[in-house]
Amino acid sequence: MNLIAVIGGMILKDLGVIEGASPQEVKTVYGSCTFFFKENIVFLPRHGERHSIPPHRVNHLANIASLKELGVEWIIGVNSVGSLKEAITPDYLLVPDDYINLWNIKTFYNEEAIHITPGLSEEVRRILISSLKESNIFNYQEKGVYIQTTGPRLETKAEIRMLKSFGDVVGMTMASEATAAKELGLHYASLCSIDNFCHGIGRAPLLQEEIKRNLQGKAGKIRQVIEKAIAKLGEAPKISKEPSLFQGT
Ligand code: HPA
Repeated sequence: MNLIAVIGGMILKDLGVIEGASPQEVKTVYGSCTFFFKENIVFLPRHGERHSIPPHRVNHLANIASLKELGVEWIIGVNSVGSLKEAITPDYLLVPDDYINLWNIKTFYNEEAIHITPGLSEEVRRILISSLKESNIFNYQEKGVYIQTTGPRLETKAEIRMLKSFGDVVGMTMASEATAAKELGLHYASLCSIDNFCHGIGRAPLLQEEIKRNLQGKAGKIRQVIEKAIAKLGEAPKISKEPSLFQGT
């Protein structure tokens, strides 16, 4: 059975999946990360065990390198996002098919001119989408462009007016995870939880408490989808492909 990783934020506690599991640590040359093992699943809280690491300080390289070290090939990210579209309301789940991350790009390649072609795993996306369907969840989008901002603050209204011509949702973590995973040849896709309208899109003022409340409200649905997806990925054939690399001169 394949080893599957789930990288999540505050939702991991609400999912109840790490209850009873004891934290373990992996050390890599990029830093260390804490994770929880359950059967063939590695739960990795990206903001640390006590949710004390803000988004701009998450050590994505240590997290992804640790998973590689543990022998993980398949990764599901659970990422909280704001919606740039009135039609995608804060009760939706979304499986992005692409992302924009033009700044603050994390990379393992600081000493070599290696340029991967970024993208999300189609295999993991397909499994997440079929798991959403089988869970009888209707409020979901099977495509969308994720735009990553740096955080920790939310965006200004003017920033959101600019970003909404280019994408569907905004978050602070997924693109870095996807890029780092692709650089190490791991298969990564994300189940995004739409937890608010981005600043200026909705009528109500945007507050962190609202984001947290909406995310917690979807914990049951997210858990159902993740459990189904893990079961399918657990049986997926091993495809240890090397990442497609373009090596510069
Ligand atoms: N912006 C950035 N990140 C987020 C948001 C948002 O509105 N909601 C949840 N994560």
